[in-house]
Amino acid sequence: MADTFPTLIATFFVLAVLILFRRAFSAPRLSFPPGPPSKPLIGNIMHAPTSGAIWEVFSQWKEVYGDLVFLHGLGNNILVVNSLETTNELFEGRWKTYSHRPRFTVVGELMGTEKSPVFMPYGEEWRESRKLINMALNQGAIKRYHTVQEDIAALLNKDLLEKPNDFISHLRLAAGRVVLSVTYGLFAENSQDQYIKDAEEAMDVIGKGMAPGTFLCDYFPIMKHIPTWMPFHWRKEAERGRKAVRRTVELPYFAVKKMFSENSAPPSFTMDLLSLGINDLKSEEQAMLAASAMYGAGTETTFATSLTFVLAMAMNQDIQKKAQLEIDSIIGTDRLPTIADAPQLPYTMAVVKETMRWHPSVPISVPRQTSEDDVFRGYHIPKNTMVIPNVWAISQNTSNPNQFNPDRFLYQNDSLNMIDPSKWIFGIGRRICPGRYLAENSLIAIICGILSAFDILPLQNEPIHPKFSPKHISFPEVFPCQIQPRSCGKVELIHSRSAEAKVHLHAK
Ligand code: HEM
Repeated sequence: MADTFPTLIATFFVLAVLILFRRAFSAPRLSFPPGPPSKPLIGNIMHAPTSGAIWEVFSQWKEVYGDLVFLHGLGNNILVVNSLETTNELFEGRWKTYSHRPRFTVVGELMGTEKSPVFMPYGEEWRESRKLINMALNQGAIKRYHTVQEDIAALLNKDLLEKPNDFISHLRLAAGRVVLSVTYGLFAENSQDQYIKDAEEAMDVIGKGMAPGTFLCDYFPIMKHIPTWMPFHWRKEAERGRKAVRRTVELPYFAVKKMFSENSAPPSFTMDLLSLGINDLKSEEQAMLAASAMYGAGTETTFATSLTFVLAMAMNQDIQKKAQLEIDSIIGTDRLPTIADAPQLPYTMAVVKETMRWHPSVPISVPRQTSEDDVFRGYHIPKNTMVIPNVWAISQNTSNPNQFNPDRFLYQNDSLNMIDPSKWIFGIGRRICPGRYLAENSLIAIICGILSAFDILPLQNEPIHPKFSPKHISFPEVFPCQIQPRSCGKVELIHSRSAEAKVHLHAK
């Protein structure tokens, strides 16, 4: 012992010198990407916008700091990515580091969405769920939903004919019907349908809760242990969200399971999963969550985009007329367009693309999280940084971005030229939206169906000042417009096609 003590002291001394030497002569620590000036301890917490459209604030920062904007504070780091090229470099080129999702304490843990494929960290469990979802939504598989999507567009036209002023709830119902049908084989009779209402409520709380800065508990996860009876706003929201999420996850799934056991389940994603055999609780929960992820992620996003279309048409009569003229000349006036007609309707497809660009329905996408430290363009990006692609900034990277102009997708080499939004509004890399092909077809069916049958008109003496909700899934706030059938012939067509659709959908 007498011999080892001096040896230990000497070893300790040598190690200490080595560490000091290394610190002194190793490369200086890389800096974080630029960002708004931070305060000691709290960092940029005061910069987290608590109201308004967060993507507009991010875009203002882009003007000052560029493509990469870094915020930090209270142990949290956020990297905002403001261009398509940089998002591609990170999410495609460095997918191993940038494919995780951040942990949201309130939306994830307390509302019970953390095991949903949308919020899961990248890994084996995510891959398994994603494989199931891709089975239902890959480019080949979605062809079998064309008729359902066209039928639902026909029912939407009937609803618009009967109660044109309720167009917002009709559009939400149409978007929900498509995903409800694909996921569960269920049919929602009207907009008061319980499944539609539950999904709407769940997405409302989730959408609010995902904007950075909404809940203090996301900065101080320890607060989740505060008893439920204490009067914190986020506690109440978490409880409301948890109940709505659970209803969305369980009710439609168990309805299909019951029909499956009685051999009466219509074809659907959930029926396919049940046919594969669900043997234990874990896989039952996984199946329920995969199905509800499709339903939750697919409904509000599609609704938001179709409502943006109605707003754009009310404000741009000349563009609407041009698309109607194209549809009339190619399709004729005695039938409604189908999804298969899309390649023959280039101008109308440019209207669909411009709708997706003009106001992307998920303007800050779904955030990612780094799984390890990274060095990018000479900057240090720490492990566990939340990475937010500013999709809205990408949508603005064209001339006159506020102007609704489908021509930007028609004329190559023009200064208006813009990259097809389907390459960026659905995300990038491994976590890209698996529902993108289905969503595009729903939009084609809905938009072509409306253009073919109706005129969307502004109201006299009521100018439209477009405003969009500042939520995670963003859609136009209420605006004045009038929706009227284009002719008596169209009224007849709406009646006959919707009657046919009802027969198809009820026969499923
Ligand atoms: C206009 C309609 C839609 C838009 C704009 C949209 C947009 C997005 C975006 C931006 C993401 C995040 C991607 C990323 O992290 O890079 C996403 C993820 C997702 N979307 Fe969509 N989506 C739409 C429709 C749908 C539909 C119809 C479904 C299913 C029926 C769906 C299911 C999903 C799922 C399950 C995820 C999570 C993917 C993952 O984390 O692995 N989406 N979507």
